[in-house]
Amino acid sequence: MNHFDYRDGEFYCEGVRLADIAETVGTPVYVYSSATLERHYDVFKNAFAPREVLVAFAVKANANLAVLATLARKGAGADTVSAGEIERALRAGVPASRIIFSGVGKTEDELAFAVGAGVHQINVESIAELETLSRCAAALGAKPAIAIRVNPDVGAGGHEKISTGKGDAKFGVSIDQALALYRRAHADPHLAAKGLAVHIGSQIKDLAPLEAAFGVLRGMAERLRGDGVSIERLDLGGGLGVPYFHEPDPPSPAEYAAMVLRVFDGFDVSLAFEPGRMIAGNAGVLLARVIRLQERPGRPILVLDAGMNDLIRPAIYDAYHDIKPLKQAQSAPPKAYDVVGPICETGDTFTRNRSLPELRPGDLVAFLTAGAYGAVMASTYNARALAPEVLVRGDRYEIVRRRWTLEDQLALERTPDWLERT
Ligand code: LLP
Repeated sequence: MNHFDYRDGEFYCEGVRLADIAETVGTPVYVYSSATLERHYDVFKNAFAPREVLVAFAVKANANLAVLATLARKGAGADTVSAGEIERALRAGVPASRIIFSGVGKTEDELAFAVGAGVHQINVESIAELETLSRCAAALGAKPAIAIRVNPDVGAGGHEKISTGKGDAKFGVSIDQALALYRRAHADPHLAAKGLAVHIGSQIKDLAPLEAAFGVLRGMAERLRGDGVSIERLDLGGGLGVPYFHEPDPPSPAEYAAMVLRVFDGFDVSLAFEPGRMIAGNAGVLLARVIRLQERPGRPILVLDAGMNDLIRPAIYDAYHDIKPLKQAQSAPPKAYDVVGPICETGDTFTRNRSLPELRPGDLVAFLTAGAYGAVMASTYNARALAPEVLVRGDRYEIVRRRWTLEDQLALERTPDWLERT
């Protein structure tokens, strides 16, 4: 459930008419709902009650400071994949004791930064990384808590580009290597070996592969304990899919949690999760305005002022985003449109042959499910400004990232002396 709906024919986010934001802040603009973020966090966290679990929001899904602060105030942790994301989480008020540092390409500087910050856990993805981390920890006189990321050779995820758990993916190490690595970390005086981690993909709509991966992790932990090697934590990653409103609903957090509790029934271990999309996806929309209606034989093309630089998911994953007019259609029958952005690429096509209420130049629309992997993946391609972000709370709203102007972009660039005009 989310807090975006029509009221008296106008599309609202909580108590705010979205057209007001579009008129005042301009389009394209991302809008997030505090109540939805909080609700999704609660639904996920409470689904495991009374088992206490760490819910570390995957910052990569939405790294806006105000979004992170909203979740931090609920007690959320953060799953991070760069020093930048750790810094963002800390500045938003997530305590280091709830920050997980994952990722296949952590640099030595980033590892040192994470160790210095005292994060909850570093998820190690290879033997080379383990060695570097051990060296860093020794130099800093620290003993960071680590987990080994296992690649359980289970495929899952809505699209091949977001599946991470197959044996040939670049993430994690095989089951045997992970066991060996864990034992090695356990014996390392500079590392505190705490657990195993797994993340097999994103937008997962079937619990079976997740259950298989979690079963693998439990089996591994049992083997280690059987050999007298202590293991306290299991990090089960993120990946639970969300409804994009054109396909059957994915499993609910309650069904997901029931499966997890079944797999780990009677097994005393701390569980952590790294949900991103499930918390932020349906907590955000992207508002855009119709610039032009291009009539042509066949279907008309709706040209919007938002492009693939603002929301790249349709271009790279063929992702579906529901499109709603901010003014609810009256009785006119829907029409089929191709919906495109202004970027000079054929890929800048949000959808083809989509049946929508009739739209005219100047009309406003919302792309739904844009709160995760939306603004964070935006670029300035075609010298376009990064869209601003707005956070709604009740009947108030605040611009939580202003529009990135051309001046902001140009300020970073410099013309070398030899090109200066005399
Ligand atoms: N943990 C790890 C280690 C991850 O790699 C990811 C996502 C997550 C957690 C969060 O997964 P989620 O709960 O959001 O599914 N840009 C793509 C999604 C890429 C996901 C990458 N990893 C998209 O727009 O669909």
